[in-house]
Amino acid sequence: FEKYIPFVPLKMEHRSWPDKQITKAPIWCSVDLRDGNQALVDPMNLQEKLEYFHTLLDIGIKEIEIGFPSASETEFEICRELIEGGHIPDDVTIQVLVQARPHLIQRTFEAIRGAKHVILHFYNSTSTLQRKVVFHMDMPGITKIATDAAKLIYELSQSVIAEGMDLRYEYSPESFMGTEMDYAAEICQAVLEELHATPEKRVILNLPTTVENCMPNYFADELEYFISKLPSRDCAIISLHPHNDRGCGVATAEMGLLAGAERIEATLFGNGERTGNVDIVTLALNMHTQGVDPELDFSHINRIKEMYERCTKMKVGERQPYAGELVFTAFSGSHQDAINKGTQYMRDSGSGKWEIPYLPIDPADVGREYEPIIRINSQSGKGGAAFVMQHSFGFDLPKAMHPEFGHIVQVETDRVGTELKPERIYELFRENYIDAV
Ligand code: KIV
Ligand code: ZN
Repeated sequence: FEKYIPFVPLKMEHRSWPDKQITKAPIWCSVDLRDGNQALVDPMNLQEKLEYFHTLLDIGIKEIEIGFPSASETEFEICRELIEGGHIPDDVTIQVLVQARPHLIQRTFEAIRGAKHVILHFYNSTSTLQRKVVFHMDMPGITKIATDAAKLIYELSQSVIAEGMDLRYEYSPESFMGTEMDYAAEICQAVLEELHATPEKRVILNLPTTVENCMPNYFADELEYFISKLPSRDCAIISLHPHNDRGCGVATAEMGLLAGAERIEATLFGNGERTGNVDIVTLALNMHTQGVDPELDFSHINRIKEMYERCTKMKVGERQPYAGELVFTAFSGSHQDAINKGTQYMRDSGSGKWEIPYLPIDPADVGREYEPIIRINSQSGKGGAAFVMQHSFGFDLPKAMHPEFGHIVQVETDRVGTELKPERIYELFRENYIDAV
């Protein structure tokens, strides 16, 4: 990522730097195996969850929500297998979700027995709408659900902590974005107090958009206000859990980090309820291309994509940022020409800086190849054919040949009406320049 030149908005050049920027990776937490899994037509079986879990480890994710063990026998058994089967490295914390309900909390404590590092994540819904339509409760009633749960969790945790478990707590005021911010701060403060949070033993306050209902800048303003109203702010890790209902999950997360969040819950390729959770791949690689180390390894994106598609039975779209089949492909002539020139420029300059127009990231950084960057169809120009000859076959065509050979290729694309593969480009070259001699 050092090869990337951080983006400085042009209008800001007279200043030293924009007021705020993301300068370091947040704490990442994967919720693939819980939020992602619960949104699948066919939830993953044990083998699939294990394979997925190991991929998350390979990526370098250190906090992984493995499920909702009190929700079903299957979920409980998967949790037990992960713990008893020795799948969890010592530097990884598993997270388990539970509703703020006593019998489910009890069952969750049974599910985590014997684990080394655990985040116990409990939630209840706090929004105006949910209070009115679902719970028929006022604010004190909703607060009591949260504080009673916090009290029970704190009590039950004392014995497992005494036995050596590193147990931390996370509270989510579900539907945070539909909650009055003063009330959100009040209920979170009450939970922090019940859990005896201190600056040394911070509790994760996870603020889910749940259903994304506003613009990212508005969310960031609300978040700043919420933080300013939280008396024990220094006893909390502010975590975000953006969903993508308005298609703005990534922007919400980025704006939220600027507004003071330190942790992000996300999923690979944005799987999750409805339109999904925020996509961890896009977030991490957006940082990467701004010269910030995301501390995650996506250098083999195709392998991750293959595992994801197999285990979830979902497809990664062709235009999915950084991972889609077509995102390192340029069909149009002017783009191909510019990429070609950028490649040449980089080679000549030797600076090592990534300065190729139309390609925000070096495909090699995610284990993709240069070869498919340029694909040739009837929209392609002279530069594209020359690029393919160079990158696929090592022929450095002299500049003077580009227009003529480009024309030969264009005539062929018009004739066949489909994309030409590199092998066909080579054939055309051979027919016209080698065999013709
Ligand atoms: O989206 C949401 O609100 C959730 C909570 C359970 C954290 O998934
Ligand atoms: Zn969610």
